[in-house]
Amino acid sequence: MCDLSALPPLSEDQYLLNTPRVRSFVAEVRACVKRAASPAEACAQIGPLFEALLADPGWLPTAFQTDAPDSGMGGGIGQWLIFRAADRSLSLFSLVVPPGAMTPVHDHLAWGLVGIYRGNQDEEFYRPGAGRLEPVRRRPLAPGDFYTLLPPRDDVHRVRTTSPETSVSIHLLANDTGCVWRHTYDDATGEARPFRSGYVNAECLEA
Ligand SMILES: [Fe+2]
Repeated sequence: MCDLSALPPLSEDQYLLNTPRVRSFVAEVRACVKRAASPAEACAQIGPLFEALLADPGWLPTAFQTDAPDSGMGGGIGQWLIFRAADRSLSLFSLVVPPGAMTPVHDHLAWGLVGIYRGNQDEEFYRPGAGRLEPVRRRPLAPGDFYTLLPPRDDVHRVRTTSPETSVSIHLLANDTGCVWRHTYDDATGEARPFRSGYVNAECLEA
C-alpha cells in the first residue's frame, strides 16, 4: 500500500484533453516546478496560472464536467483525468461532485492545488489522530477560489458540494493521484483504510 514504485512509468505523457490550452498550462507549471526550491514555492508560483485556468470559461469540455454513477469515489462522483506525466510526477484532473454528494475524507500524499470551476463546495480539512478525526477548518468556496495541499500539514480533506447544481473542481497534484494507493479516514474513529480512486477515463496501467 502507498508504494509509489508499484506504478511503472508510462511510455509518454498522456493528454486525455489534448488542447493548446492544456499543453501550455502544463508547460508553464513544469517551468515553475523546475524553478521552485520547495513545494510551497512551486504552489505560490503556479497560483496565478491556476487562477487564470479557473477563470477561463471555455477550455473544459462537458464530458469532463459529467458525474459518474459507478466511480471509485461513490456518490456519482467523477474523477476525469486531463493530463498526467509519464513519470507519474504530475496530474491534472477534474472532480465532478453532484448536489448533496461528498467524497470520503481522504489524503493525496502529494502537494498540489485545488480550485473551483463550477458550482460551490465546502473544503473541510482534518487532522487524523489516535481514535479520532479532528476538524481543522471548513470554508465555503465559489468559482475561482483555490487552495493548496502541502503534506503533511494540509493533506487530509473532504470535498462537499453545497450548490443546487453539480460542482466541478480542478486538481493539480504532484503524483498520479487517481492511481496511487492512498487512504480514506473513518469519520468516527479516524481509522485509515487503503484507497485508490481511479479515473473514469483512464486506466492505472500497472506492471
Ligand atoms: Fe482531494
